[in-house]
Amino acid sequence: MTLSAAEIRQQVEALGPWFHNIDLGGVRTAPEHFLGDYPNMKWKKFAHAIPADLTGKTVLDIGCNAGFYSIEMKKRGASRVLGIDFDDVYLDQARFAAQVAEEDIEFRKLSVYDIGALGEKFDVVIFMGVLYHLRHPLLALDLIREHVAGDMLVFQSMQRGSSKTPQLADNYPFSDYALFEDPAFPRLHFIEHRYADDPTNWWVPNAACAEAMLRSAGFEITAHPEAEVYICRAASQPEHARPIYPSKGARA
Ligand SMILES: C[S@@+](CC[C@H](N)C(=O)[O-])C[C@H]1O[C@@H](n2cnc3c(N)ncnc32)[C@H](O)[C@@H]1O
Repeated sequence: MTLSAAEIRQQVEALGPWFHNIDLGGVRTAPEHFLGDYPNMKWKKFAHAIPADLTGKTVLDIGCNAGFYSIEMKKRGASRVLGIDFDDVYLDQARFAAQVAEEDIEFRKLSVYDIGALGEKFDVVIFMGVLYHLRHPLLALDLIREHVAGDMLVFQSMQRGSSKTPQLADNYPFSDYALFEDPAFPRLHFIEHRYADDPTNWWVPNAACAEAMLRSAGFEITAHPEAEVYICRAASQPEHARPIYPSKGARA
């Protein structure tokens, strides 16, 4: 059923406020977004780094919000796109946006910490703008690597601090205090209360830390098309970083 612009506008208002600014039949869902035309302006900077043809591929969009990236992946021909988020308000927005865009996308309520329940690996996993909202960011990356990352990971995190990515040593002497004064050394800044008025902004990495966390969780960075965006491929996890929490192969 095709909705009129007035009907779309009415639904957009009823489902708001929106974080994703999506053009739904000429109606924009968040025209006053504090970041501008978001996430479209971000997407334009890295869209070229993802295959233009995703025919036959499966995609998991973690923290899908109103489904901007899910819709873009489906437009590229992905055979199956699953968007997950733990917030019903955003999932309702995503279902409506996909309906207006006439894209067949499944949206499910699921936390990133529970992705093991999916029991499925995906060719492309999108993990954009979620890491810094988590109290346990490395756990989430480990779980993504172990349970759902079949090949490509598209990752983004807010970053603050140094954008340098120095060569890191394999080990450092106990007496090396200077290391911790170097702003380019991997740093994950902890926000006890709020950042940008948002109490869910918990951890903000600098660039070296974002990259090191990806490697430590078993991802190889293959492209860095935008300051905060990394295209990765599932690789082997460093031996010393293998998770020790129970998983499917856990011993009794
Ligand atoms: C800043 S938005 C990013 C949305 C989108 N991925 C993007 O890059 O534009 C963060 C999203 O992550 C979701 N989120 C936060 N914690 C989550 C969790 N533990 N599991 C699943 N989704 C989560 C929020 O509900 C929100 O939709």
